[in-house]
Amino acid sequence: IKRIGILTSGGDSPGMNAAIRAVTRVGINSGLEVFGIYNGYKGMTEGYIEPLTRDSVSQISNRGGTILGSARLPEFKDIAVREKAIKQLKKRGIEAVVVIGGDGSYRGALSLTEMGINCIGLPGTIDNDITCTDYTIGFYTALQTIVEAVDKLRDTSNSHHRCSIIEVMGNRCGDLALYAGITCGADIVITKDTGFNEADVLDRLRELDTIRKKKHAIVIISEKITDVDEFAKKVSLNTGFSGRATVLGHIQRGGSPCPFDRLIASQMGEKAVDLLMQGIGGQCVCIRENKIVSYPIEKALKMPSDSRKPLTNLFERLI
Ligand code: F6P
Repeated sequence: IKRIGILTSGGDSPGMNAAIRAVTRVGINSGLEVFGIYNGYKGMTEGYIEPLTRDSVSQISNRGGTILGSARLPEFKDIAVREKAIKQLKKRGIEAVVVIGGDGSYRGALSLTEMGINCIGLPGTIDNDITCTDYTIGFYTALQTIVEAVDKLRDTSNSHHRCSIIEVMGNRCGDLALYAGITCGADIVITKDTGFNEADVLDRLRELDTIRKKKHAIVIISEKITDVDEFAKKVSLNTGFSGRATVLGHIQRGGSPCPFDRLIASQMGEKAVDLLMQGIGGQCVCIRENKIVSYPIEKALKMPSDSRKPLTNLFERLI
């Protein structure tokens, strides 16, 4: 192959730029021409595609967000929309594409591969919700942002005998909450996997106050589980702590990527180019037990998310 494209799609994540840089530089150094496809599949459909050079990707590894822009395009599941996108690629001689994003983006990559455009997926999402990889690009930076915020909340919570309820992102995946719970020393972690029994949590908080005599309590909860402001009111009414909710929100998606995210983004970008040069498509790149490997996207999308259990057990043993 001679020409490849690269796009970022779905929610952005810190480290996407390092992946763009790696794909571009490794591609060019391997004799390929590399094209940036702007605003995800939307830009592919509209033909918003420009050549990338060694210089156009310099000094971006340290920057959060994505220089290519990102978008969600649910219509990409329609074959007519994909055909339009493929026409734009063919017009420019682009034969294969690296797609950086989450599971929705992987679905698009698989469909394009089935239609003759080899695609390789890179896991770019803070959620860590792609089971076949131990870590996704952006997860550790988002975790660091959460840890810094929770450490600050703990200071003020402790001064006022409060219970801080901190809602973190993750979509349907509890990893950000669980890893933050372990690394911040939270009292309670609530995720899709733990379930949420309000009465039990209130009981536990009363016990922390009256029996353990704790000066404050930290509850970390995944988004999309309950209304945290309402829950904080119930904490104030039913326990000795006064409840305060903090929704960390999109702050978790920004910021300069940590070295680990930059490193795996670079390694994964390299692997993607190598696979495309071997004529391989329909695979996603993963890090597993410290090795960069690839895995069929079709299987990755069907993989159940039960591999996090050891850390749930660890959290229980630390409280
Ligand atoms: O997938 C990344 C993510 O940040 C999720 O954690 C969150 O549920 C969602 O995207 C938010 O999406 P939006 O940026 O469209 O509000």
